[in-house]
Amino acid sequence: MIKNLLKKENEYVQEDIPRSDLPRIILFTGKGGVGKTTIAAATAIKISELGKKTLIISTDPAHSLSDSFDVELMATPTKIKQKLYGMEVNVEYELERHWETIKDYLTLFFKSQGIDDVVAEELAIFPGFDELASLLHLLEFYQKREYDLIILDCAPTGETLRLLSVPEIARWYMNRFFGIEKRLLKIVKPIAEPLIDLPLPSEEVLDKIQDLYSRIGLLKEILESPQTTVRLVMNPEKMVIKESERAFTYLNLFGYRVDCIIINKVLPADAGEYFKKWIEIQREYLKDIDDRFPVPKFMLTFKSEEVVGEKLASIANEIYGDKDPSEVFTISKPMRIEKDEDGGLILLLRAPFVNKSQLKVLKRGEELIIIAGQWKRILYLPQSLAMRDPVSAKFMSGELKIKFR
Ligand SMILES: Nc1ncnc2c1ncn2[C@@H]1O[C@H](COP(=O)(O)OP(=O)(O)OP(=O)(O)O)[C@@H](O)[C@H]1O
Ligand SMILES: [Mg+2]
Repeated sequence: MIKNLLKKENEYVQEDIPRSDLPRIILFTGKGGVGKTTIAAATAIKISELGKKTLIISTDPAHSLSDSFDVELMATPTKIKQKLYGMEVNVEYELERHWETIKDYLTLFFKSQGIDDVVAEELAIFPGFDELASLLHLLEFYQKREYDLIILDCAPTGETLRLLSVPEIARWYMNRFFGIEKRLLKIVKPIAEPLIDLPLPSEEVLDKIQDLYSRIGLLKEILESPQTTVRLVMNPEKMVIKESERAFTYLNLFGYRVDCIIINKVLPADAGEYFKKWIEIQREYLKDIDDRFPVPKFMLTFKSEEVVGEKLASIANEIYGDKDPSEVFTISKPMRIEKDEDGGLILLLRAPFVNKSQLKVLKRGEELIIIAGQWKRILYLPQSLAMRDPVSAKFMSGELKIKFR
């Protein structure tokens, strides 16, 4: 069994207990074409069959979720089967709903600065808003508590990372751009407006901004809660592993919790003579995946045909076995970065069972290789660390502290 190649799950310690009174959110991401939509759909089916009212949301404009379920999904929740609902976000519509008033003001503002009409309109849509719109949807269903569980089928990793940093960026943007005290503005506006050449935002615009700002704050809280986890889908292939590693590092840094990874399109051992070499190659990559992703792993074999419609139910069983897919498989954060008093950076890694007498830390380009006897971790370094060198490594209370300068 390939599964035996992978580390035992008890290596991954649970930290705090997730709150069961809040809806659970699972985000699926991974490189393009690895099987995100297929696995998100299969997971949703299985969870709904276990009795939880589930909503699956797709942010993909290509409408692949409809194809996967073989059901036409709308921009509002459509019933797929008992306890299972699906929807595909309509970005245009969302943009209008949340941003229109603010956009009108910004257009006016940019025009007052002598910017061409058409360009002003484009500028008034701040970068990443289309992605933000689909996340705001999440908030709505979350607050209504209509569903026990919400699954988000996200865009490929690069875009998802951007999406997940949007709440942070949006808050910053709004702070900078609209960092005008509302009360003060009310007093100043009638006097100032005729004198200066700038249109000042109306109270309605300010209210809208305030509202959006607090929604974004709430969204951030939800995404960072232990009830929300990300599942990275990947294939045992070089380029896919590379991109997934980068995503894994950044997800951890942004404070998101990857509770498991799902390795898809694994060739079964009996795939035949023609695939013999491929099976060997995949075996190597599976070991590699094991060294690089310190979270529980699930697998799905490569099927002889497309996995859509009725076939989805059976693949969830293959992936999760007798486990409930809505479980939070691990909420421990495997890495974080702290600042040192003397300006250095410290990388803290969860490293169970490391014997410090055997510890070896090597840096190779953007990778950090940590070897301690049988235990090995390869880590993709974020830019802030890749530019520095590791100077010391200490092992303290289950954590490895590596100092960079
Ligand atoms: N285990 C598998 N065996 C065989 N075919 C699979 C398997 N998993 C997914 N597929 C097929 O691979 C194709 C891509 O899958 P899917 O659309 O789920 O990927 P995706 O990661 O969502 O892609 P995108 O990045 O375009 O959103 C589909 O045709 C799907 O049926
Ligand atoms: Mg997809």
